[in-house]
Amino acid sequence: MLVSIALITTALAVLPSTHALVRKNGIGKLPALGWNSWNAFSCGVDEDKIMTAANEMISLGLRDVGYNYVNIDDCWSIKDARDNVTGQIVPDPAKFPSGIKGTADKIHALGLKAGIYSSAGTETCGGYPASIGVEELDAATFAAWGIDYLKYDNCYVPSNWTDRYIGCVPDGTNGAVLANGTCAVDNTTAPATYDWSTSNTAKRYRIMRDALLAQNRKILYSLCEWGQAAVPTWGNATGNSWRVTGDITASWPRIAQILNENSFLLHAVDFWGHNDADMLEVGNGNMTREESRSHFAFWAATKSPLIIGTALDLLPAELLGILKNGYLLAFSQDGSFGGPATPYKWGTNPDWTFDALHPAEYWSGLSEKGTLVLALNTWNVTANREIVWSEVPHLETKHHERGGGAFEVTDIWTGEDLGCVQHGLNRSVNSHDTIGFLVGNSC
Ligand code: GAL
Repeated sequence: MLVSIALITTALAVLPSTHALVRKNGIGKLPALGWNSWNAFSCGVDEDKIMTAANEMISLGLRDVGYNYVNIDDCWSIKDARDNVTGQIVPDPAKFPSGIKGTADKIHALGLKAGIYSSAGTETCGGYPASIGVEELDAATFAAWGIDYLKYDNCYVPSNWTDRYIGCVPDGTNGAVLANGTCAVDNTTAPATYDWSTSNTAKRYRIMRDALLAQNRKILYSLCEWGQAAVPTWGNATGNSWRVTGDITASWPRIAQILNENSFLLHAVDFWGHNDADMLEVGNGNMTREESRSHFAFWAATKSPLIIGTALDLLPAELLGILKNGYLLAFSQDGSFGGPATPYKWGTNPDWTFDALHPAEYWSGLSEKGTLVLALNTWNVTANREIVWSEVPHLETKHHERGGGAFEVTDIWTGEDLGCVQHGLNRSVNSHDTIGFLVGNSC
């Protein structure tokens, strides 16, 4: 059903290499780009808000830079019953007067794609009808409505489908976690040899995968099981992307915490399969401009899906500029290098330290246009960050030499061509900001 090809990963040598999967339906090679209703509107979703977002994606130029999915999250249906003749989920007529099909048609007419949401349980997280036991019917319904993307959540799992072991998530959203980020070992812990692809969680998500693949429509499959059941070990065989943590919030400590967790899971990322660090919060809450751009930079650099989660008609121009950053989007969507940027030095901490507030600060990754190098200030005060070419593994790999030399450099935030830069760069970096450079040919 799915063809496996070995791809060279750009992960650090200490990480195991991975196999990426070419999807039978040929979608999901690159991280998905789009918009979703949840972070902006929670349960208050309706066609007006969806179409406002879709129209703004065009007028703000977001479609033109690659954002194409318009995804309806939870709470889109009638709550207490399915159609008593067809058994289908019924779109709430007050929220979606022309049905989900009517909304999807309007989205398609704008040259965009439509996404929907369900759960691998009896109800969605908001308590609406969900798909366990009726996966084929729901997949066929979504396909008939013209759906192009399914986000599949993990709420209301029936007792006969729970897992034998607890698949701990190191942010504490599932299982007990020790301070160093490892999971506590107790009688709920799986043996080291346990194959999580045999878990009930993996099975629940495979049933929907097969139901989607059976449709005569290409539907991107986004797993949302919050990083449980060791999903990076079987996500590639199951979907196009998989959440690696519990829910994001519009706050720097949570964003740093997710980045920290994800930095230990990047070996799973390559063409066709992506760790989902959760939807973007740019535009929400009280994050600073610096925090917003670090959030976006690292979600793009780690090749997470980039799903905007804010009311686009209210988005300040400066934050729109972050979401449209051409250097970061090009890295995310690179056609030749599928692997993510990875840390080459932790900075504040010794390498490989698990620290929710001080994740790895120095990162690099290969792309067609050069090596992307990022340096993050995780501190609450301004601090210097120094990028030294000789420390950057991707530059070393590319040039087969250590000791640096000089490289053509472009600043990814200003677009400024810094010319031929010797040795590296040293900058004063505001609290929670990230400096970023595209490092090209040696000179
Ligand atoms: C959560 C999910 C969120 C959102 C919410 C809807 O489980 O992680 O992204 O979809 O459910 O109720």
